[in-house]
Amino acid sequence: MMGSKVIRPKVVFVLGAPGAGKGTQCSKIASEYNYVHLSAGDLLREERTKPDSQYGKMIDSYMKEGKILPVAISCGLLKKAMFDSKKEKFLIDGFPRNQDNVEGWTKDVADHVDLQCVLFFDCPLQECINRCLKRGAEGSGRTDDNEESLRKRIETYLSQTSPIIQHYTKLRLVHSIDASKEPDEVYKCVKKIMSKYN
Ligand code: C5P
Ligand code: MG
Repeated sequence: MMGSKVIRPKVVFVLGAPGAGKGTQCSKIASEYNYVHLSAGDLLREERTKPDSQYGKMIDSYMKEGKILPVAISCGLLKKAMFDSKKEKFLIDGFPRNQDNVEGWTKDVADHVDLQCVLFFDCPLQECINRCLKRGAEGSGRTDDNEESLRKRIETYLSQTSPIIQHYTKLRLVHSIDASKEPDEVYKCVKKIMSKYN
């Protein structure tokens, strides 16, 4: 139609080790800057609970093992959530997590959105582990906030996600944030970055 223009949704990827504070910071960003917060992990957990989901069992076992599910599943859920929201600004938390995630996204979605930047929450691994164990002990209800699963999640993070962060660093898209401090302190750094894009 004449005069109408296609709006490309804006996307910010949010990465960091398990327990780095991605979800906590995303909630704050989402409410202040009007982004829709989409956590790949949360979407997968929601999918797992659906009685008619064909992926329930698979999601369950992958999560306990700290393994990354095939991108068709995670990216499919993200795409659906983006479409259903009818909004234009998205924080995509915990994705892309490995090479398969990047490839699926590139093939399917990348050309239709504007990737603004990647926020990397940088936190010492021991602190991340402590936070997840505390979260588990306080009743996060997550099947993977235990020592055994955490060890595997960290292993996956180091071997598969770190190279993805390096990949986006080379593309000059990454903002690295010291995530070892208290949430409000971390958020001060986040605001300095996000205010440039909004
Ligand atoms: O990000 P979060 O810690 O909630 O992710 C929990 C689990 O969900 C991961 O350990 C992994 O098993 C799964 N996941 C995935 N692909 C993603 C994000 C999460 O398979 N892109
Ligand atoms: Mg999370």
